[in-house]
Amino acid sequence: MLKKFERYPLTFPHPTPIERLGRLSEALGGKVEIYAKRDDCNSGLALGGNKLRKLEYIVPDAIAQGADTLVSIGGVQSNHTRMVAATAAKIGMKCVVVQEAWVPHEDAVYDRVGNILLTRLMGAESRIVEDGFDIGIRRSWEDAIQSVRDAGGKPYGIPAGASVHPLGGLGYVRFAEEVRAQEAEMGLRFDYIIVCVVTGSTQAGMIVGFKPDGRASRVIGIDASGTPEQCRAQVASIARNTASLIGLKDAITDNDIVIIPDYAYPAYGVPSRETNEAIRLAARTEAMITDPVYEGKSMQGLIDLVAKGTIPAGSKVLYAHLGGAPALNGYAYTYRNG
Ligand SMILES: Cc1ncc(COP(=O)(O)O)c(C=O)c1O
Repeated sequence: MLKKFERYPLTFPHPTPIERLGRLSEALGGKVEIYAKRDDCNSGLALGGNKLRKLEYIVPDAIAQGADTLVSIGGVQSNHTRMVAATAAKIGMKCVVVQEAWVPHEDAVYDRVGNILLTRLMGAESRIVEDGFDIGIRRSWEDAIQSVRDAGGKPYGIPAGASVHPLGGLGYVRFAEEVRAQEAEMGLRFDYIIVCVVTGSTQAGMIVGFKPDGRASRVIGIDASGTPEQCRAQVASIARNTASLIGLKDAITDNDIVIIPDYAYPAYGVPSRETNEAIRLAARTEAMITDPVYEGKSMQGLIDLVAKGTIPAGSKVLYAHLGGAPALNGYAYTYRNG
């Protein structure tokens, strides 16, 4: 489905591993087999994560346009801005990232450790602004693009999460193709794919990628944005644009888009007691590290959906681990006792 699109490799030149999570499966009653696809271990660039798959299809366009500066946006502890900074360093461009006050979280070192520390270390200019959470196109980002232009640079804008970019959905179409090949090798087929969703192009790409084998609606998005309607609309529009871009025969329907809003409370970036329990369970059964903003919430969703029987006994589930562990450093006080 993707042959006509140029890809600039930023990830390791082999599929990310699919790992059986035997102890977690047992801890959840042993009736559902849980596996993880480790996109958190997908690259040697600054600890990796889901954004690199998306950026692989965006970088050729930035190069073709003669850009010299990547300009992007996220929260203070954004994984995405870390990945854009890493990409810029690797391809020899400059980088400006706007970091908004998306999370009502106070920790003495929140704006100095984890993602933002790595972002600065890689030479990106990090501009902290006070605006709150929003997954849409932001004024502060447009201003940053203009400021690079005003200074004589050639900016290339990458929106939050690399999502509302015409090529942003392609990386996770490729993920689905990769999973299908791994399933053939492993001699199994996953019944459900669990994925954290916020800016939307990860799930949207998967929906498109799994549509041809009838599994679009088996991609269960666990919302971590706390703005599920906006999130759903963004997933729908990215999925439809991506489907038409690659020339997918079947139309993406509303039923293809499954997003569960129940685990994002109390707010984006703020973990609930249940999120923290989920993070501890994954860490203590599998040494698999999830974070309080994204994967902790999708792990909480997975655990709850298995416990409630929404994911029925006998199912094989693939948990997409998209990265995000560096943000844990910004929550040092929350986890001071483990
Ligand atoms: C670690 C992690 N998991 C999940 C997501 C959600 O992906 P998306 O923004 O494509 O919905 C993100 C980024 O927002 C992320 O950094």
